Amino acid sequence: MKKPIQIAIDGPAGAGKSSVAKKLADKLGFIYVDTGAMYRALTYKALKNGMNLSNERSLVELAKITEITFGCGKVQKVFCDGEDVTELIRSPQVSQKVSLVAAYPEVRKYMVKMQQSLGQNHNIIMDGRDIGTVVLPHAQYKFFLTASLEERAKRRKLELEKKGYRFTNDDIIEEIAERDKLDSQREVGPLKPAEDAIVIDTSNLTLNEVINKILAIILGENNDAL
Ligand code: DC
Repeated sequence: MKKPIQIAIDGPAGAGKSSVAKKLADKLGFIYVDTGAMYRALTYKALKNGMNLSNERSLVELAKITEITFGCGKVQKVFCDGEDVTELIRSPQVSQKVSLVAAYPEVRKYMVKMQQSLGQNHNIIMDGRDIGTVVLPHAQYKFFLTASLEERAKRRKLELEKKGYRFTNDDIIEEIAERDKLDSQREVGPLKPAEDAIVIDTSNLTLNEVINKILAIILGENNDAL
């Protein structure tokens, strides 16, 4: 069997990673794993159980007894112990706390192990913060998507408005900036481009333009690999 192809997509919140990764996976027939959704599902379950989020050990124990799975389809469904949590894990409550949960080294160690096992035998596209640096350091393709803070906040505001949430621009900018700070300053698996990642600024690009850029790189280099 040919060695599976791994594509890592990292970047800050709102840079367009999930939309790009999902569409690319559909086009290429690859499995898509949204690793942010895994941290979100754990945070959701901890909040639902009324747990103290400052207790790292109990969060790791919770992770060990939690089954997080993905469905396929136009929107990728996320299940936590069989419950469809696709929408619930995107709530402002979860968004506010997820970086805290994701900063714990032992929580990350466990999640990274899970993510690596998913990436072993299949052609896969994974998105997150530490995919190119930690989870799939040998991925054949690594991309780091960025966009200005203002553009990312604009996208997030639209996404939240579609779901009926109302926030001011300033609130959203503050939330994203805070999350960027926590994600990039933590000691383990911080948000940063892998040395061999291709950085793409998506501020002035449409979703299709980003996808075409990435496809041109992958298919241009390696026509018979896919
Ligand atoms: O991509 P997202 O916004 O759904 O991710 C939610 C949070 O999870 C984000 O604040 C950082 C964290 N995360 C992480 O630390 N490592 C990953 N591989 C993916 C997400």
